[in-house]
Amino acid sequence: KANVSLAIDGPAASGKSTTAKRLASIFRFRYIDSGSMFRAVTLKCVENGVDPHQQPDKVASVASSLDIQFPDYGTVSVNGELVTHQLRQESVARAIGPIASNPQVRHTLAEHQRRLASTPDARYPGFTHGKETIQGVVMDGRDIGTVILPHAELKVFMVADVRDRAQRRFQELQGKATLDQVMADIEARDLADRTRTISPLKKADDAIELDTSRLSIDQQVAAIQKLVYQKL
Ligand code: C5P
Repeated sequence: KANVSLAIDGPAASGKSTTAKRLASIFRFRYIDSGSMFRAVTLKCVENGVDPHQQPDKVASVASSLDIQFPDYGTVSVNGELVTHQLRQESVARAIGPIASNPQVRHTLAEHQRRLASTPDARYPGFTHGKETIQGVVMDGRDIGTVILPHAELKVFMVADVRDRAQRRFQELQGKATLDQVMADIEARDLADRTRTISPLKKADDAIELDTSRLSIDQQVAAIQKLVYQKL
């Protein structure tokens, strides 16, 4: 196959983005971080004083007014401005629930996600396998394997013990929140993601589950790399 789509889903802080980013850069595939898109809409709503619960139509128009791009592996720009770090704030993650369950927002972002996934880009030439050039995309999120790219060649559902996930996020935040607070935030977000009616977090029937509780990032990357080669 000359074109490969790789869908990585899973709960918060399961290591999806780090793993997806690394895989994309190893394979020279395009990386699309769908969570950052929801975070970007949330950040702009917070900045503009739009209430996600009370003003769903305004939230939807914020979503359609944003030009969200990934200029590089792991960087995000909104309307030309780099917002990579702002998007990682806990305040953004905490406000995201009603925005991620807004059908108009999901529709707008889904179109953007699929359009990016199907647009060739010279920056992402892929890799050579035998005589073939394999191009592709790695997208991570909650509904990529189930809704956004249901025909993806490889779907991985990453899971990890909530304690391990909280510990990792806690270390990333470097003292900006306590471990208990981080764990509570993760649990609340997972519950909201699993129980919303539109595009809930759910393992696709044909996804491969990968438990990363006891795996390092290198091991996670290697495990998925192997799965990709098996598909070729
Ligand atoms: O992956 P990340 O933690 O950055 O995602 C932030 C939030 O965005 C998730 O908790 C979820 O509510 C929402 N999201 C979503 N669908 C996706 C990706 C993220 O609803 N495909």
